[in-house]
Amino acid sequence: MRNSRITGIGRHVPDRVITNFDLEKMMDTSDEWIRERTGIQTRHWVREGDTLSGLAYNATMKALDMAGKKPGEIQFIIFASLASDHEFPGGGCFLQKKLGIPGVPAMDIRNACSGFVYGLSVADQFIKTGMYDTILLVGAEIQSTSLDLTTRGRDVSVIFGDGAGAAVITPTEKEEKGVLTTHLHADGTFADKLWADAPSVNDNPRISKALVETDRIYPKMEGRFVFKHAVTRFPEVIHEALAAAGYTKDDLDLVIPHQANRRITEAVAHQLQLGMDKVYSNIERYGNTTAASIPIAISEAVEQGLIKENSLVCLASFGAGFTWASALIRW
Ligand code: ACO
Repeated sequence: MRNSRITGIGRHVPDRVITNFDLEKMMDTSDEWIRERTGIQTRHWVREGDTLSGLAYNATMKALDMAGKKPGEIQFIIFASLASDHEFPGGGCFLQKKLGIPGVPAMDIRNACSGFVYGLSVADQFIKTGMYDTILLVGAEIQSTSLDLTTRGRDVSVIFGDGAGAAVITPTEKEEKGVLTTHLHADGTFADKLWADAPSVNDNPRISKALVETDRIYPKMEGRFVFKHAVTRFPEVIHEALAAAGYTKDDLDLVIPHQANRRITEAVAHQLQLGMDKVYSNIERYGNTTAASIPIAISEAVEQGLIKENSLVCLASFGAGFTWASALIRW
């Protein structure tokens, strides 16, 4: 049995930085509220001409460089994002075109903040069966162009950022290394607690002039409800991974939770009885970048030396769906 390893990791965020003070000019909010409730200070938003596949491409080239591989060596693309460059096809195809590798399969995963961990689990299965030896897994998101930037949408709009992270995944014969276990969950009962209701294929016509005048086209969240579920599901799914692999939280070198809210990350650390030095947080600089947040965080943690050879790292996510997931990795 072979395991899968992340042998290359890269990130890319747009160069346009939006501060909380910039948001104060767009809606009735304040730097103080945003910092206190979320920990966010800045986020990166795309500018005219940026594309989702472009962000993904830049992150991919960095990940390939670290892995010592060329685009032509990629055998499978897994693209995790809520969106695509266009309504369809999926974003993986637009990235594949940019990489110049026609014929390589491209699969899209729309599991919001859990997309990267879901994708890692899929990649792990394909590596384990021997189907592929080099898989590109991307988490990329442009949220800023879909937000309600008026006071009506302030609870959601202040938390989201744009960005991309990419991982190159290859096999190892060492069974104690790489992805040790993955755990995926979903509960569609709560789909409407965090969603964008429209455009919906159930509306006929799907898009109308009347529709765009409504707030149905914007992402909506019952913040407190989502918060309560998040602080339960994160520790639960981390414990699930530790138990499956025969470890305890004391064995962990680093937890990388999806970056949803600094207070959620602190609550997770508290419940696991881990210091914040063991639970990665960069939400102050990026906000919530949905599927991109975990690979961006891994890339930074590797760069900062927080993840080294043999580190035991737990990835954990929670988000729209609801979906939640974890992966335990021996680096
Ligand atoms: N600026 C100023 N005031 C605001 C803002 C804002 N940006 N947003 C909301 N408020 C106001 C509200 O109107 C409310 O006012 P009221 O008391 O007069 O009614 C007050 O602040 C409190 O609002 P709450 O929504 O209760 O604030 P809360 O402390 O819950 O924080 C937040 C909101 C940050 C969204 C929080 O609930 C949260 O982080 N939830 C979870 C987010 C999450 O985990 N998402 C999952 C991932 S996202 C994905 O999967 C796509």
